[in-house]
Amino acid sequence: MASRLVVEGVEAGYGAVRVLHGVSMEVREGETVALLGTNGNGKSTLIKCIMGIVTPQAGAIYLEVDGARIDLVRKPTEAIVSLGIALVPEGRRLFPKLTVEENLLLGAFRREARAAIDANLAFCFECFPVLLGRRRQLAGSMSGGEQQMLALARALMSSPRMLLVDEPSVGLAPILVSRVIAKIKELKEQRHLTVLMAEQNFNQATKIADRGYIIVHGKIEFEGRSAQELRENELVKKYYLGV
Ligand SMILES: Nc1ncnc2c1ncn2[C@@H]1O[C@H](COP(=O)(O)OP(=O)(O)OP(=O)(O)O)[C@@H](O)[C@H]1O
Ligand SMILES: [Mg+2]
Repeated sequence: MASRLVVEGVEAGYGAVRVLHGVSMEVREGETVALLGTNGNGKSTLIKCIMGIVTPQAGAIYLEVDGARIDLVRKPTEAIVSLGIALVPEGRRLFPKLTVEENLLLGAFRREARAAIDANLAFCFECFPVLLGRRRQLAGSMSGGEQQMLALARALMSSPRMLLVDEPSVGLAPILVSRVIAKIKELKEQRHLTVLMAEQNFNQATKIADRGYIIVHGKIEFEGRSAQELRENELVKKYYLGV
């Protein structure tokens, strides 16, 4: 089964403020695609449009599964999760007063996921042994790196085919950033996931990305067909490397 996520000419924003201007991009099955951009350029807004949290004013967002088109715009977020798309939100968004295990169980509300709850929980604990030892600990008392691992694990509890990861590196020490990024790659391979990752840490993101896009002021300014092309791009040099 072949699928791809397509974003076409999306315009979106908040109230009168337009943030995304004609954004088009796609993520094909099995790829890891990086959405690179510095603060405030619209990465999270685009991810929220895909998840049905922000409704675009124009354009299309759809999944193509075996040639059939499933439109996502105006679908409720639960329906989008049910199609196999899971979000690891910026800033983790855990329930700090709930335990690690309770947070994980909340990730499994979709019907298909409920059937697989035991297997998914076992998989999460196997992948993230730190969570097993802390399953009864309150999420809010975990370190930043542990919380990011928990946020990733929670997303896996919905048995997704596609993972949208919004700035996993934010607020983490460099050593933890490397670990989280390596974990995303490992999970992707083990679970045959497709990954769209928004990042401003371009060095880390291009370590695992197959290709990617650079978003500047709500417009896709560059599409790199490989990690190499992204690294060599002038925009990257200008915005990230200070060249
Ligand atoms: N709920 C909101 N209401 C009004 N404006 C918003 C809202 N959320 C985001 N914005 C604005 O939209 C623009 C894009 O924000 P967005 O969060 O998409 O950027 P980003 O690329 O994810 O940035 P960061 O790297 O800081 O997370 C910013 O100017 C921001 O102030
Ligand atoms: Mg953001």
